[in-house]
Amino acid sequence: MDLIPNPRRTDPAPPKAGPVRLDGRTVIEAAPGTEGVARWLRTTVGAATGLPLPDAAVSGHGGSGAQDSGTQDSDGSGSGSDAPGRSGRGSRILLGIGPDIARESSPEGYRLTAGTDTVRIDGGGPAGVFWGAQTLRQLLGPDAFRAAPVVPGRAWTVPPTVIEDAPRFAWRGLMLDVSRHFMPKDGVLRVLDLLAAHKLNVFHFHLTDDQGWRVEIKRYPRLTEVGAWRSRTKWGHRASELWDEKPHGGYYTQDDIREIVAYAAERHITVVPEIDIPGHSQAAIAAYPELGNTDVIDTTSLAVWDTWGITANVLAPTDNTLRFYEGVFEELLELFPLSSSPFSPFVHIGGDECLKDQWRSSPAAQARMRELDLADEDRLQSWIVRHFDRWLADRGRRLIGWDEILEGGTTDAGLTPGAAVSSWRGYAGGIAAARAGHDVVMCPEQQVYLDHRQAAGEDEPMPIGYVRTLEDVYRFEPVPPELTAAEAARVLGAQANVWTEVMQDRSRVDYQVFPRLAAFAEAVWSPLPAPVERDYADFERRMAGHYRRLDALGVEYRPPGGPLPWQRRPGVLGRPIEGAPPNV
Ligand code: ACM
Repeated sequence: MDLIPNPRRTDPAPPKAGPVRLDGRTVIEAAPGTEGVARWLRTTVGAATGLPLPDAAVSGHGGSGAQDSGTQDSDGSGSGSDAPGRSGRGSRILLGIGPDIARESSPEGYRLTAGTDTVRIDGGGPAGVFWGAQTLRQLLGPDAFRAAPVVPGRAWTVPPTVIEDAPRFAWRGLMLDVSRHFMPKDGVLRVLDLLAAHKLNVFHFHLTDDQGWRVEIKRYPRLTEVGAWRSRTKWGHRASELWDEKPHGGYYTQDDIREIVAYAAERHITVVPEIDIPGHSQAAIAAYPELGNTDVIDTTSLAVWDTWGITANVLAPTDNTLRFYEGVFEELLELFPLSSSPFSPFVHIGGDECLKDQWRSSPAAQARMRELDLADEDRLQSWIVRHFDRWLADRGRRLIGWDEILEGGTTDAGLTPGAAVSSWRGYAGGIAAARAGHDVVMCPEQQVYLDHRQAAGEDEPMPIGYVRTLEDVYRFEPVPPELTAAEAARVLGAQANVWTEVMQDRSRVDYQVFPRLAAFAEAVWSPLPAPVERDYADFERRMAGHYRRLDALGVEYRPPGGPLPWQRRPGVLGRPIEGAPPNV
């Protein structure tokens, strides 16, 4: 059946069960709590198949009402009295919540039973039903991933089967950097659909950086008037001499963000926004120069950064900066409200790669350190992080930040218990955080940075970093062996990160992200087989079918044989790291 990610357990259906035929008479019976999944099936699978999939209650009892509305039957090729099961009736898709499933696995677990005239999906909660519906779509074949039917009136069948499934990790994420290159809103919605198709449930939305501010903040309009665009862009790695001499920019209005959050929620995906402070803030300083270290440089001369790397231009550790960002976060909390998702409290404050040179030479920053009795600039950064940690906690939220937020003196850097760490510089930050009692999202750059090149060949476009093949990502293990069971329980899960310096458009993002996101999805969803390793040969075999799904979705993945001619970028400099061992 080529399912990806591989389910926990697949059993053949009882001996007499035949395939389930979906046709113009098929109805959906959605129990309370599963209406959203029915809606998704109707709009998405309905569009691909051309089947109306009406609500059983609305269409009559169990499908008879749907019989006459069957557009698929109008050419006579649809099902008639030869349909399996109850004569004269179509098949049924039953959606329900099974409290036993939540008890035995998780609210995201599901059981899918298909045979004869019924596909039944029971979930531990609505999310589990939704993941079961994703499995159903895979069972229908690659054409179920298209936006409209290729062969009108064809029959759709689900093989008889029983699948019991649940995710290994609760946090299964993708981080997308929309600052270095903006992804227009429709592209973001498409990414959410692609995450859902892989049973991924967290979208970490990197909204701000030196190269662009991408979210409308009503009280600070210059953040997007000035901060959302740059006049030109480095073409390739920063050592490249090439420039793209056209303006680049864009941002999401507050209604765009609300739409993205709602679209994600319908797909049981939580959007975790990131506002990166106190480094990676040059776009904000370009918009509001008083946010920078004005006693060190003339911040009025700063523009949104047009090249790559780590800039020395960081926020000034002033009260003005704190109040400004409290204002930003106040609007952000309204855009990303608390919901039934366990991850909706999280707000990412970045915290990575903050160069301290300006603070070292700033009399104002040094005076602040003396006033607060802080021994060094790392502690000054920690003081800023802790300020927003408490500010968020006071509002029922949880701070999450890159592993630099652990720097600054004590083993837990004085963070509130709810604060969590995205471990990107290898596993070490995550291990330290788990040992200090903090939740962790593993995203080590050596394993799951999808901006890194996928092969060693000369043809890889703008090659960055280590070679990380599909198999490397498949073998990614989020829990390092040195953690005790209690510490390992702190690992909420993992995410793949996509930094877009050399990804100018959707095609380049597709190329870097796929097919490796499929391997990542299995690493975080499917159980780790013990005592043997994951079976890559089996994954590769299932990928043959999955490539057909990606084709149907229009995903411009890296083909197994290497980039297609138009996916290459000859002559544009990357930054390959030769022969680097993992975990450096
Ligand atoms: C990061 O890659 N700077 C988090």
